[in-house]
Amino acid sequence: MSKPTQPIGVFDSGVGGLSVLRAIRASMPEEAVLYFGDQGHVPYGPRSMEQIQNFSEGITRFLLDHDAKLIVVACNTASAAALTHLRGRFPSVSFVGMEPAVKPAAETTKTGRVGVLATPATFQGALYASVVERFAAGVELFQHTCPGLVNQIEKGELDSAATRAILEDALHPMLDVSRNIDTVVLGCTHYPFVIPLIQQIVGENVRVIDPAPAVAKQVKRLLEKLGTKNQPSARASIRFFTSGDVAGMKSMLPILLGESGEVQSVVWKNDREVEEI
Ligand code: DGL
Repeated sequence: MSKPTQPIGVFDSGVGGLSVLRAIRASMPEEAVLYFGDQGHVPYGPRSMEQIQNFSEGITRFLLDHDAKLIVVACNTASAAALTHLRGRFPSVSFVGMEPAVKPAAETTKTGRVGVLATPATFQGALYASVVERFAAGVELFQHTCPGLVNQIEKGELDSAATRAILEDALHPMLDVSRNIDTVVLGCTHYPFVIPLIQQIVGENVRVIDPAPAVAKQVKRLLEKLGTKNQPSARASIRFFTSGDVAGMKSMLPILLGESGEVQSVVWKNDREVEEI
């Protein structure tokens, strides 16, 4: 049985999962965290399911080897491609994954027209099809990928002209009066970091949904159910790991997470095994 003082493992293809970690941190500062950004392989969106499954398996094993009591797949693309695979490979491990927030959007839209932004692999996954089938009855969805946006955010370009151009290409067709969306679902954990830009483009009358707070609530519920939620106490530590540039991730932490931290480097031995340097 895991102990409450053990850390939560959180991973993403890069810094996107920090938008989920931010919500977990706000809700449960007493929980220690291991954050893994697979920046050596980012972006995952254009990759094959098999590759994403292999990477996710290697990262999960790494986090479990570092004593993680629960794994948060803070990546819509990895959740779509690998969550079922991970639950099969690690049947005794508890996972929390991402799914595009179509349900709350469908429940609150007034025009019945909702935009969804995500990566190609997320849209192609069975998880998204299932979410649409279960929750989007009577709602018209306008889906759009944002090619290059993940890399822009990884570079810290949160409001550059190039980033704006990618978002305008994705959003303008949805804003056409014949489409008349009143809600945009962020189906990629990187995208909450450009909400100010998105809101500027869509206008204040369009609601932008960031799923991170709901995911943090699910993590809390699961820890309470498992009896492994830590007692409220001082802020616990976060250990950061990247398979990419250590200095790059370190510089992004205060901007994206609102706190700094030490980042350790990891290296992939092959597509399934990663180790600390
Ligand atoms: N943060 C990831 C997601 O939520 C981005 C995937 C990618 O690396 O393309 O899908």
